[in-house]
Amino acid sequence: METLRSRGAVLVGPVEGALAAGDEGPGRMAEAEDIARAVAAVLTGRRDLVGRRVLVTAGPTHEPIDPVRFLGNRSTGKMGFAVAAEAARRGADVALVTGPVGLPEPAGVDLVRVETAEQMAEAVFDRYGWADAVVMAAAVADCRPALAADHKLKKEGVARSLILEPTTDILAALGKRKERQVLVGFAAETGDYEKEARRKLAEKNLDLVVANEVGRPGTGFGAETDRAAILAREGADEPLRMWTKQELARAICDRLIRLLEGRRAS
Ligand code: CTP
Repeated sequence: METLRSRGAVLVGPVEGALAAGDEGPGRMAEAEDIARAVAAVLTGRRDLVGRRVLVTAGPTHEPIDPVRFLGNRSTGKMGFAVAAEAARRGADVALVTGPVGLPEPAGVDLVRVETAEQMAEAVFDRYGWADAVVMAAAVADCRPALAADHKLKKEGVARSLILEPTTDILAALGKRKERQVLVGFAAETGDYEKEARRKLAEKNLDLVVANEVGRPGTGFGAETDRAAILAREGADEPLRMWTKQELARAICDRLIRLLEGRRAS
């Protein structure tokens, strides 16, 4: 596989799951639909991210209360996985750090699975020096229980024990330590999306922020589509409209290319 990959072959699978003779693990043929999609991408696709290193985060984080309960959110990981798959299809080296999700592993991506915000922070900080661009699509929990119990709490104990403390704001930390990296954040909003997203763009020292509406059918967590706008620190914005997550992933990669090219020239 390494030899084929080094010759530029696009590998689709093998994927993990149930195998012949009752085994489980890596070795299954990829789904026909995924193979067809990969063939179509090779035949029609641009390879304009070759040589670029893109770090993507996806999914929610789970913050343990005790061994059986956690604090989490409604993110399913679809947006981050779509960005990682699109960047990989276009030739980028992609690392995808994901919280707990039930999605198939995208082809050609270095997948790192984490559970908590602190584990995600560590995995992202470890790879920041490597990355040319970071797309923080994960819905990182903003706070966690200050003390996770090491035994299952009795129901009366749960409410009493819940004292919350903030987690590390990963993206804000990346913004502070930014060198050459292009930084893309997300802002899931139910109110005045533009004002909030612009504030995050400035406060976290981002290049782009994808503002998406949540809390309505057909947009946000778990949906196949998003009502979203892409707001840029410099240059034109993409106005608020409906996109499929694949279209939005494509638009984010198009913007990444322009920003990375600008940086190389300067
Ligand atoms: N983010 C992060 N680390 C956190 C929280 C969020 O890196 N601990 C990132 C998310 O991945 C996303 C962006 O920051 O790209 C969202 O910004 P944030 O200000 O956290 O959004 P909200 O949680 O919606 O914040 P607010 O309550 O201010 O609206």
